Amino acid sequence: MEVLAVEFPLSWLLFLASLLLLYKYFTRTWGTWSRQGIPELKPWIIVGSRPTVYKGVVHLEDLKYRRRFGQTWGEYEGCHPILFTTDPDLVKVVTVKEFSNFADRRNFEVKQEIFRNNLALLQGEQWKAMRSLLGPGFTGSRMKNAVDTFLESAKTLTQLLKRDGKDGKKGLEITRYFSCFGLDVLASYGFGVEVSSLENTETPFVKNALRLFTCADLGNPMIVFALAFPKILSFLDVFPPDAHDFFVKTIQDIVKARKDGPDSGLRKDYVDIILQAIKQSEENKEYKRMGITQKLLEEQLMLFFIAGYDTMKTSMSFTSYYLALHPDIQSQVREEILDAIKETDGEVRHGTLSKLPLMDACIAESFRLQPPVNRLERVAKRDFHYKNIFIPKGTVVQIPTYTLHREPEEFPDPEVWKPKRFLEGNQTHNPYAYIPFGSGPRICIGMRLAQDIMRFAFVHVLKELEIVRTPETPEKVEYMEGLHFAMQPTNLVVGFRSLH
Ligand code: HEM
Repeated sequence: MEVLAVEFPLSWLLFLASLLLLYKYFTRTWGTWSRQGIPELKPWIIVGSRPTVYKGVVHLEDLKYRRRFGQTWGEYEGCHPILFTTDPDLVKVVTVKEFSNFADRRNFEVKQEIFRNNLALLQGEQWKAMRSLLGPGFTGSRMKNAVDTFLESAKTLTQLLKRDGKDGKKGLEITRYFSCFGLDVLASYGFGVEVSSLENTETPFVKNALRLFTCADLGNPMIVFALAFPKILSFLDVFPPDAHDFFVKTIQDIVKARKDGPDSGLRKDYVDIILQAIKQSEENKEYKRMGITQKLLEEQLMLFFIAGYDTMKTSMSFTSYYLALHPDIQSQVREEILDAIKETDGEVRHGTLSKLPLMDACIAESFRLQPPVNRLERVAKRDFHYKNIFIPKGTVVQIPTYTLHREPEEFPDPEVWKPKRFLEGNQTHNPYAYIPFGSGPRICIGMRLAQDIMRFAFVHVLKELEIVRTPETPEKVEYMEGLHFAMQPTNLVVGFRSLH
């Protein structure tokens, strides 16, 4: 009995001591911000500052905290300290001036390789080498080669909007149309594959792409634990495994067919860039040492969909929405387009794009109000001091672009869609307060490509159709809940009325 009496309290003592140790461990970083006098969002043990992030609309919450705390504040994901900032000077420091210390994003190392190994998530010298290998795929001359593809897809898009829009009488859920359009152009430019998803939704390529890339489901409670313990993701299938495997196989088949085929290196498309990079990596010992393998290079083919699909769909949908709400500005853009194509007998050419400042301003202002990628991030490689802020090594700095683009000092009447802000001579904002494609050496590699594709689409659509408000067009945009790579509007309905 005596022995038991001693053992019982000892085991309890051990239990309590372990609890205490666990508590200490999980709260070890608490106070990182408040101790420095930086406002912080109170953390909860294990789950961090936003335990219900999967239920909220993340960029609207960012805005709420900016209003509560000011331009810079701290939070915790699990027990990892995160610094949020919408201070354009700090944005410049992190993305440009101190790039060597803030060169990388987090890589959550998800189980499925095509989402783990893409350029956006590679780090250090591997990222640098890959970026320079892929860069030639995004030059102006490459894009000029693809103009016919862009134009064809834009024509098909216009015809379908005309057909389904029933002369403005039927409201169309536009993200669906722009997502198929995006898939068509990206598949063609990236894979050299014609998919015509606007018409053929049942082909394996289209079906799998829509499943894989239509916003990975991060709107569930698991995301809170994944942020706290990122290693979890290396065991989970975040994306539908069969669709993932379909694309791994498709990529391998495409690369093999093109490598051995008669037109190898002649098409000058993105597959050629990858083939060329594979050759370079086989010949160059440095690339081998860095782990730039054929497999890693093949995986970069998915870049187009992972990074381009949702972002283009969202931005084109918003631009149409705002044009529908502002018919007067839309007519001015149409006049501008008709003027620009007069010189080429009504034909749209690559040169047409440089003559459309108002259309560009409309797209830019839509990017400001609704930046598809609503947060950027960088990880501090080493401890860093900025004014009175100490950023410990390993801290993630988050730049919430949706909120940054609403800084009232930079953009008066921030909630109002005013394209004129972006016309020449009117741009008074700090350049680091407007970064829809990011900033610094890690800026979006597909920026020019995405802009050109969007411009071609709008030139065609606006030349033929008037984008109109319908009874279903919302006054207020709604978004899918949860943490998504690109923001997901859920209720963008507009009409399309034929002009001819
Ligand atoms: C409207 C369309 C698009 C928007 C708004 C957009 C926006 C962005 C943003 C904000 C970033 C992060 C930049 C940073 O952290 O500083 C990014 C990165 C990236 N984007 Fe885009 N993007 C778009 C289309 C595309 C397309 C079509 C591609 C095609 C390949 C692409 C490929 C990438 C890649 C690879 C990265 C990572 C770059 C790196 O880390 O070196 N994006 N994009």
